[in-house]
Amino acid sequence: MIRIGIAGIGFMGMVHYLTYQRLRGARVAALCEQDPKRLAGDWRGIQGNFGPAGEKMDLTGITRYDCLGAMLADESLDVIDITLPPGLHAEIAIQALRAGKHVFCEKPMALTPRDCDRMAAAAAKANRLLLVGHVLPFYPEYAWAYKMVQSGKYGRLLGGSFRRVISDPNWLPHFWSAEQSGGPMLDLHIHDAHFIRLLFGMPAKVTSQGRLRGDLAEFWHTQFHFADHPYVVEATSGTINQQGRSFEHGFEIHLERATLAFDFAVFGNEGRMLLEPTLLDDKGRVKHPKLSDGDPMDAFLGELREILRAIRTGKPSPVLDGNLARDAIVICQKQTESLRKGRPVKVGTK
Ligand SMILES: NC(=O)c1ccc[n+]([C@@H]2O[C@H](COP(=O)([O-])OP(=O)(O)OC[C@H]3O[C@@H](n4cnc5c(N)ncnc54)[C@H](O)[C@@H]3O)[C@@H](O)[C@H]2O)c1
Repeated sequence: MIRIGIAGIGFMGMVHYLTYQRLRGARVAALCEQDPKRLAGDWRGIQGNFGPAGEKMDLTGITRYDCLGAMLADESLDVIDITLPPGLHAEIAIQALRAGKHVFCEKPMALTPRDCDRMAAAAAKANRLLLVGHVLPFYPEYAWAYKMVQSGKYGRLLGGSFRRVISDPNWLPHFWSAEQSGGPMLDLHIHDAHFIRLLFGMPAKVTSQGRLRGDLAEFWHTQFHFADHPYVVEATSGTINQQGRSFEHGFEIHLERATLAFDFAVFGNEGRMLLEPTLLDDKGRVKHPKLSDGDPMDAFLGELREILRAIRTGKPSPVLDGNLARDAIVICQKQTESLRKGRPVKVGTK
């Protein structure tokens, strides 16, 4: 039985907690939360943009900590699952790894590539796994696209465009803080930066154009250039000033003999498929794959199943690997740099 301690019971801590209840071979043995009400099991104030609303929970049998250091010192725990605000990820992950735990950390891995390197070094030294919660490849539409690309059935990958746009989340107090969240580049676009890295490898250069809010990227378009491949890859992301469409994401991926496309948005409180997952092939056929209904909670089930597989077998995860997550942070940092400088920026590895 893998014994897990969850650090931070907010929206994601609750999502992870509920998801572990659906999995065999793992048990949430401890929780750490600074809010006494949440620590006592009153999760009624917790509500995200998907999944169930928080309820009063019976946490009998779960060791509860109000101090992160005390939970990290709990020798009975195998894994620390970090669902804290991003500004705390690096320090807590490093402390957990030094205490001999495997770490599963929510995205973004950290706020700077330097912190990601410190985390990776701590994992290597402790000989423990460092996995990062990039759930997007477990969403049915993205899982389908990844599988189609990997299969090679429609030939080589040529490029793609990726879109992730939200209304300004003015109810999140720290969203526009570089020290606490990193703004839409690290909170939002990181999902696509990671998916682009997964599909195409590391870009050699990025060119971004868009708006800044203070020092943070607000809304932008980026072109990704690759050294060894003539891929044509672009992404649009950020926040715009409207509150009617809180969220939109989608993609169009070009293969030699087919195009994969998908677009989903939330208008008011209603999620609408603007373009259901569609494959357009070179014979003129228009196909719609049969995918599950796309409840995001099921994507987390797939993600956590993969986390447990990696921990059980000791074999790293090709999708949730810390190095990939670190590359996504590097890409985002270079995108912001390009936006600020108004010119293309080399990516490299630092
Ligand atoms: N994968 C996704 O789709 C997705 C969605 C939302 C959030 N996230 C990520 O999950 C992480 C958490 O986001 P969230 O929305 O759950 O945040 P949140 O603010 O709802 O929850 C964070 C919790 O951590 C607690 N906390 C903060 N500092 C603490 C400390 N020192 N000791 C103990 N508890 C402490 C807070 O009290 C809060 O309950 C972020 O990295 C975010 O980017 C991922």
